[in-house]
Amino acid sequence: MTQSWPKHDMSFLGGRRMRRLRQSEWSRAMVRETELLPRDLIWPLFVIEGQNEKTQIRTMPGVERLSIDLMVEAAKAARDAGIPALAIFPNTPDHLRSETAAEAYNPDNLMCRVLDAIKSAVPEIGLIADVALDEYSANGQDGLVRDGEILNDETVAVMIRSALVQARAGADIIAPSDMMDGRVAALRAALDAEGFEHVQIMSYAAKYASCFYGPFREAVGSGSRLKGDKRTYQMDYANSDEALREIEQDIAEGADSIMIKPGMPYLDVIRRARDAFNVPIYAYQVSGEYAMIEMAGAAGAINRDAAVLESLWAFKRAGANGILTYYALEIARKLAR
Ligand code: PBG
Repeated sequence: MTQSWPKHDMSFLGGRRMRRLRQSEWSRAMVRETELLPRDLIWPLFVIEGQNEKTQIRTMPGVERLSIDLMVEAAKAARDAGIPALAIFPNTPDHLRSETAAEAYNPDNLMCRVLDAIKSAVPEIGLIADVALDEYSANGQDGLVRDGEILNDETVAVMIRSALVQARAGADIIAPSDMMDGRVAALRAALDAEGFEHVQIMSYAAKYASCFYGPFREAVGSGSRLKGDKRTYQMDYANSDEALREIEQDIAEGADSIMIKPGMPYLDVIRRARDAFNVPIYAYQVSGEYAMIEMAGAAGAINRDAAVLESLWAFKRAGANGILTYYALEIARKLAR
């Protein structure tokens, strides 16, 4: 027997019912405002020395550091899945890290060798090279340090040398993730002077001093070295007007595209940037966001697969043109099906 309940009088709605559009899959598809596509996904990868070598990252279950030969295989898989670009981060061997971070501009460093290897084997994919000193420095800071102070202009001088060896090795996009003042203009001028006018700059324009980078620091091996924090250069999470000034400045200095980082806790900043600036905007779903989804999924607290898609879609809704995400390959393949 069908149950019958009394109806409330809904005449106050005047016929307006939001659920009308949501009644069926075809209708939900028709009114869907945003899409998530393989070309929205940029895949961050960690490179290590060795041959046929993979190492686990304890705090990023499911992500591995890869030797150069395996990075080339990963690049092929990414290309085949429709991913437009890779973002590459080196785990520099300990004995090459130093106070001067000189390994950053060694033309034969791990980063340059992997850029060269992928560029020759998989020329169709874009290569984004991170430029910051923490992957080469003895202290895990993104800048040179003197008496506890992070030096701005001296750091920029080293970054220029680092970006030039990367461009020579085949980097298509230079991505300064350091938050030093003036580095975009300095990099643009140096790249142009050396004939790399075609190399793009994707600036980490609004990068916050965040606890969500913890697992990344394990991945690149800088975390255990880091003393103190990065709050004299990365942004205060209490601010978003300041993020707009950072972005405006980087665009004025010549950035081709800008990034906001971390991702999910900063969707408001992505939306403000989208409304204020007409440039490509990328969001970085960082290592701690990845770890939270993986670990909450493994604990049975959330549906992991559903959480991954919902989190990525949120970036598109907020107005990002693309997302750097450790889920890139998995999701690009899934979307293609
Ligand atoms: C380093 C850098 C960091 C990340 C990207 N580049 C860490 C930091 O600034 O300490 C974080 C990425 C992630 O957490 O996934 N310049």
